[in-house]
Amino acid sequence: MTRLTKRQFLRLVGSAAGVAATYHTMNTLGLLGPESAQAATPDLPDGSGYGRRVVILGAGISGMTAAYELSKAGYHCTILEATGRAGGRNLTARAGDVIHEVDSRQWVDFDHEDHLYANLGPARIPYHHRIILGYCKEFGVELEMFTNDNRGAFFHNAERFDGQPVVGRRVMTDQRGYIAELLAKAINRNALDDDLTADDKERLLPMLVEFGGLDADYLYAGSNRGGYQGESVHAGLAPGDVNDPLDFSELLRSEFWEYKLHFSQFLNQNPTLFQPVGGMDAIAKAFETRVRRIIRYNSPVEEIRKTADGARVVHRNQRSGVSEALDADFVICTIPAPVLKDIPNDFSPETQAAIESVAFVPAVKIGFQARRRFWEDDHAIYGGISWTDQDITQIWYPANGYHREKGVVMGAYIWDDFPGQGERWANMSLPERLRTAIAEGEHLHPGYADEIESGVSRAWLKAPYQLGAWPESYQPPAEILAPDGAVYFAGDQITALPGWQEGAALAAHTVVNSIHARVMAG
Ligand code: PHE
Repeated sequence: MTRLTKRQFLRLVGSAAGVAATYHTMNTLGLLGPESAQAATPDLPDGSGYGRRVVILGAGISGMTAAYELSKAGYHCTILEATGRAGGRNLTARAGDVIHEVDSRQWVDFDHEDHLYANLGPARIPYHHRIILGYCKEFGVELEMFTNDNRGAFFHNAERFDGQPVVGRRVMTDQRGYIAELLAKAINRNALDDDLTADDKERLLPMLVEFGGLDADYLYAGSNRGGYQGESVHAGLAPGDVNDPLDFSELLRSEFWEYKLHFSQFLNQNPTLFQPVGGMDAIAKAFETRVRRIIRYNSPVEEIRKTADGARVVHRNQRSGVSEALDADFVICTIPAPVLKDIPNDFSPETQAAIESVAFVPAVKIGFQARRRFWEDDHAIYGGISWTDQDITQIWYPANGYHREKGVVMGAYIWDDFPGQGERWANMSLPERLRTAIAEGEHLHPGYADEIESGVSRAWLKAPYQLGAWPESYQPPAEILAPDGAVYFAGDQITALPGWQEGAALAAHTVVNSIHARVMAG
């Protein structure tokens, strides 16, 4: 598997690099329809699909979206699902569930309470993901706010600030303050005279005072935006003492600024974000309710073949355990590239090479049930994320169940795979994953180990029939944007939204519209 460089990773997390190019490619291939930037929600004429057989590979969000839309138009759809459950990477763990990996099984030992669950796959939906939110609305999936950015949560670097976690409001405030001060100095020393008119300078200086919380001399000497000294954070009865600013050199060396400090600036991480009440799988369940009759569970695909007038999919029959073939006019293949590349097929060498080139991120998530909501009780942290430079990368606090007795925190969400920690953690034993995550969490929350009652981990590299979390690149190879014969590729892997359900649904819409256009063209 190719490894992501740090620079590639930062691009993956944040920017839209490659999106325009991908969009251009899709458009050129006619996959986006004539005018729209996004595939229009299919609105196929009733009965337009009568007599056409479509076999859909995978009952994840993409496959079920395609099945739902095509069935409405009269297409005869069958979904082949390799596992015993629908949802794909949309996976919520709760009490009593069994989580399978290729070489292990875990029993989820959480309490039976509505708010005690871990979204081990997707966990947040930004407000502009209109397709997936549209289905939530159509299906009546109740939503609540999800919090990314919490100024009361921590930033931690084991080698900076004496290894102590620093509260977000101070890091954010001081970074702005120092930058504003430096820029004001440059302006006042006339270093930017080539770039600014006298009028600009006059306006920029007061702007910087506001932006950074500078004093009358354009210096940053700390700000009450970062809170007050002592336990209470705010001023209270008497005006308190503002925190001293953090050391600027330490701030620079902490590398919080790499992406963590501006995380919520990223388009797909902007507020407002949502989560379904009771777990992300409410979305998968809502789709499944509507397409259940056409899903064949426990039916892994063994071969994908071309026929004279369509395609044939050989798969294991769930009941007999014997291989069986299904013929179809069209196949929609949502099987993730790391799995698909090893399924015998008749694809062109170009298609096969393209599939082999799509590398997935080996992300890992670990959910812990805590006996006490110590983040709320001890730190006034309600939802949001603490960041650390340790392997666990981040701790997420639940955006639900506030002030209840217990809660489930995401005790690790590993996604930056340098130097190879995704794979390293995937290869740890299950108890070792939990132990290591607890030991690292201890540096953010002393006493953490005593608060944790049980945990569950998901290394997506080892997820059966997934073998990865999401494509590393925003730019899918052109060969899988187009069908190979009667086989259309779908899933987030054919979009510039890798790792988002929106991408999965967008891909489904795109393919549904393409099939419809082909059928109409006769
Ligand atoms: N959507 C997922 C998340 O927000 C995975 C992802 C992360 C996708 C970063 C792209 C970039 O955590």
